[in-house]
Amino acid sequence: ASGSSSPVLSQPAGTKSSDQKGKQGTPPKPSSWAALPLPMEIIPSPTGTVCWLSPEQTAGKQKPYMYTQGQAVLNRSFFPGFDTPAVKCTYSATVQVPEGFTAVMSATTWEKQKDNTFVFKMEHPIPSYLIALAVGDIVSAEVGPRSRVWAEPCLIEAAKKEYDGVIEEFLAVGEKLFGPYVWGRYDVLFMPPSFPFGGMENPCITFVTPCLLAGDRSLVDVIIHEISHSWFGNLVTNATWGEFWLNEGFTMYAQRRISTEVYGSAYTCLEAATGRALLRQHMDTTGEEHPLNKLRVVIEPGVNPDDTYNETPYEKGFCFVSYLAHLVGDQRKFDSFLQAYVEQFKFQSITADDALNFFLEYFPDLKKQGVDSRPGLEFDRWLNTPGWPPFLPDLSPGQQLMKPADELAELWASDGLNMEKIEAVDISAWKTYQLVYFLDRILQKSPLPDGNVERLSTTYPKISKAQNAELRLRWCQIVLRNNHEAEYSKVKAFLHSQGKQKYTLPLYRAMWGGSEAARALAMETFSATAPQLHINVRNYVKKILGLEGSD
Ligand code: BES
Ligand code: ZN
Repeated sequence: ASGSSSPVLSQPAGTKSSDQKGKQGTPPKPSSWAALPLPMEIIPSPTGTVCWLSPEQTAGKQKPYMYTQGQAVLNRSFFPGFDTPAVKCTYSATVQVPEGFTAVMSATTWEKQKDNTFVFKMEHPIPSYLIALAVGDIVSAEVGPRSRVWAEPCLIEAAKKEYDGVIEEFLAVGEKLFGPYVWGRYDVLFMPPSFPFGGMENPCITFVTPCLLAGDRSLVDVIIHEISHSWFGNLVTNATWGEFWLNEGFTMYAQRRISTEVYGSAYTCLEAATGRALLRQHMDTTGEEHPLNKLRVVIEPGVNPDDTYNETPYEKGFCFVSYLAHLVGDQRKFDSFLQAYVEQFKFQSITADDALNFFLEYFPDLKKQGVDSRPGLEFDRWLNTPGWPPFLPDLSPGQQLMKPADELAELWASDGLNMEKIEAVDISAWKTYQLVYFLDRILQKSPLPDGNVERLSTTYPKISKAQNAELRLRWCQIVLRNNHEAEYSKVKAFLHSQGKQKYTLPLYRAMWGGSEAARALAMETFSATAPQLHINVRNYVKKILGLEGSD
């Protein structure tokens, strides 16, 4: 499969799924790895940060690959240190790799010396979770004055095409809004298909899922998001994982500020509406009163912060920051506040109290008015009470894109399909996020009356046969919610093609909560793909399928 341009996670025919070779967390036996000296002895642990991939688990299928994913508390299995976001330090690393391999790290400078030895230095203090390493058959291509894309050779052209000439604009807008970009370079590394996140904001080099290679830049919001962490998260960091919203809520706000500047408010509000729909879905499944639906989460000793991960810090956090902007009432003034906030707390780790006290100091009039204790909207309530956000930013500029999608979804949900009306709606010019919004509405109305999903599938092949991962996820969810067994193979194919947590878990939950056939599909798919999944994702799926504790 050398030279294949689409990354595939599934094992080649003839490889048994019980084959342990290349299982993540366990270094594969091939001798190439035995010759890989690292800066310190690594004791591979099944729950560690270091993922060891066999050649079959890469896009090119030729050489093994390794990478680390530190956030939240996985880097303690990579190197000794204070594995808390409360403290920051600089670091340097010397990494020797076998011939034909390249190492990259989240570092401000790097140099290749003799004997395939790479020397990295991060000159700014960062929290331990942002130290990251990847080694593989990776090459790079320039896409901007301070940006390169990195990928396996078979993906590099697609990677360059996806982001050539677009990244610099996001950085420049970010700098205009939030102050200098201090990290020097901003590179993007396209990871193997089992990478569990859309993106990870490792400084100087964001790691991203290869699903972003959609061919049309439609998933670029992930890049804007990770760039936004250059100020919120990487410069100003949450001091504890219980206040993760300080990283993600501010970053969602910054992402949508940059997006508004570059793409306008209609598109950005549409994207924010899909985020709000995810928060709605999350709160519907957990119940609004769930303790994780607070911005400030209590993480008891011994609890893995990753286990508290959900949409609340992102989307409720976004609402809270939007509420602060609403209190200020003037976008420019609020932008200046954000810039001052970064300047005040850069290279530090802070709590929500630090952030909110700074806000009140910066706007003394608001402090005098007691905005922190308006009934129902108390800052304390935002932080400590679970539930739906008490303030929602106005997304009406997105209406021009949402309304046609709402109306079309309504038509598809009705008993006797009015094909005349449906066919009068031309969706050929709809952008990915407009289709995503439409599919979320369909999902919300599902199960649809008998036969409607089949008709939907044949009417819109650009949806039911989409290659775009966000569309594939939604289509698979619709297929499952409607017990549309004829297209179960698409669910299987999607789960074989990539291992992103936010795609994988909702689909297993849907299968497990569905029919006998759906449950069988879940078991069959999991037993074929388990060895390739990231250890965290594999354990979460096990939990969903009631396989916890078994190996
Ligand atoms: N920092 C997160 C990813 C993360 C969170 C890793 C918690 C480990 C623990 C990253 O910035 C992120 O939020 N990625 C999103 C992007 C999306 C919100 C645009 C993702 O991966 O889906
Ligand atoms: Zn993030």
